[in-house]
Amino acid sequence: MSSTTAEQTTAGAAASPADTDHPIHAAHTPSGTIRLGVFFQGVNSSTAWRAPGAGDQVAWESFERLITTAERGVFSAFFLGEGLRLREHQGVPLEFDVAGRPDAQTLLAALASITRQIGLVATQNTTYNDPVDLARRLQSLDLLSDGRAAWNIVTTDNAWTGENFRRGGYIDHAERYEHAEAFVDVARRIWRGEDVDHQGRHYHVRASGRLPRSRQGEPVLFQAGVSPQGRDFAARTADVIFSPFGDLERAIDFRHDIVERTLAAGRSAESVQIFPGAEFILAATDAEAEDKLRWVREQQVGPQQAIALLEQYWGRDLTAYDPDGPLPDVDPLVAESGVTRGAGFQFEKAQELTRAWREEAAQKGLSILEFARSRQGSRGSSFTGSYDSVAEQLAEYARWGAIDGLNITPWLIPGGLDDIVDELVPRLQERGVYPTEYSGTTLRENLGLPALA
Ligand SMILES: Cc1cc2nc3c(=O)[nH]c(=O)nc-3n(C[C@H](O)[C@H](O)[C@H](O)COP(=O)(O)O)c2cc1C
Repeated sequence: MSSTTAEQTTAGAAASPADTDHPIHAAHTPSGTIRLGVFFQGVNSSTAWRAPGAGDQVAWESFERLITTAERGVFSAFFLGEGLRLREHQGVPLEFDVAGRPDAQTLLAALASITRQIGLVATQNTTYNDPVDLARRLQSLDLLSDGRAAWNIVTTDNAWTGENFRRGGYIDHAERYEHAEAFVDVARRIWRGEDVDHQGRHYHVRASGRLPRSRQGEPVLFQAGVSPQGRDFAARTADVIFSPFGDLERAIDFRHDIVERTLAAGRSAESVQIFPGAEFILAATDAEAEDKLRWVREQQVGPQQAIALLEQYWGRDLTAYDPDGPLPDVDPLVAESGVTRGAGFQFEKAQELTRAWREEAAQKGLSILEFARSRQGSRGSSFTGSYDSVAEQLAEYARWGAIDGLNITPWLIPGGLDDIVDELVPRLQERGVYPTEYSGTTLRENLGLPALA
């Protein structure tokens, strides 16, 4: 197994973290197991749309096949991402976003009826929703699924989403977690059947929770967002963090940081689980997996996608550039780039980033197309290798307790979990680091979270 970018992981070569500058946190007791979830992002640039076997991103059959395969593989959770508005560049929807995303809770309610044990996680933002309404809808999903619902709390970096809503615009990054904290507090009180009278800075609500509690009490709380404010928010509030840090050293560093923050918040070191996002490219041998990785990257990123990727960061029309030529030697145009608008990514950073990319590409002799392919899979981690070497690598993760699970974004919809479930899962089970069956029927039980009082 090897890797194409520095961010990706290298099987068999996982350095012993104790020998590095990345110590395991002394207060944290590893569970010794790895769980799996599947992250269905909806429209995205990590799915190979043009590969043979690629299916429809919004058809029922795709969701049905993915979730039933995941449940066969004893996956803890099926996640849906949220993107309320197509990403745009210069007023035109991005080519990646050729289709919208169906509403997560509608879809999960339907999927609840064809599954029995897998968790159902809806990514829902706190910036544009309203807490009483969202709490009721999530609680409905929890009741319908008999205690399998979870809420992946995001504040969303999709600033332009605000244009879809009555209030327009968006809340500054600095304020979004303050808003999120009040939001989650109200939602929880609704779940607990309390009478809420919240007169806060962001909204005024008087309401009362009237639905009964589900078998797991209330939905499990996931959180995604890694700024210092996001981490503190998770440390105080979440059961599980969906992180982008999957390679071993960064996973250990992140665990260390979260344990510190969790202890500071008065919770135990194990009270917040960490599931990094991950991509798996598997084959019978390491060499075959390497070939497959190259092929998958070619399928994921063609010349047009490569230019579109750079345009998001440069904030300008780059269609005149040759995808087989060097990276553009011009500075980015906009004050805040499209992909990160609202995430505090200002002009200087765009300039810094694009300069660094230009230097990296020139140094490695990469064209625009080659560079864009090398960036693919860098958010989270890409595990590429034979079934055995990736199983061994994950067993190592379990021993270190760096993570509690991985959230897989399949590179192929809907067949992208098949080899994971048929080949990798049994090897993990043989190594004793993966559940052989669900330990209960609620998500809280299957994640090993303590029961609520
Ligand atoms: C692994 C991961 C997955 C995310 N998924 C979504 C998503 O589906 N929809 C969304 O609007 N935001 C998503 N986000 C972005 C979060 O909304 C968050 O607001 C953003 O990362 C900015 O917060 P931060 O500055 O704390 O990182 C995700 C973030 C991470 C790290």
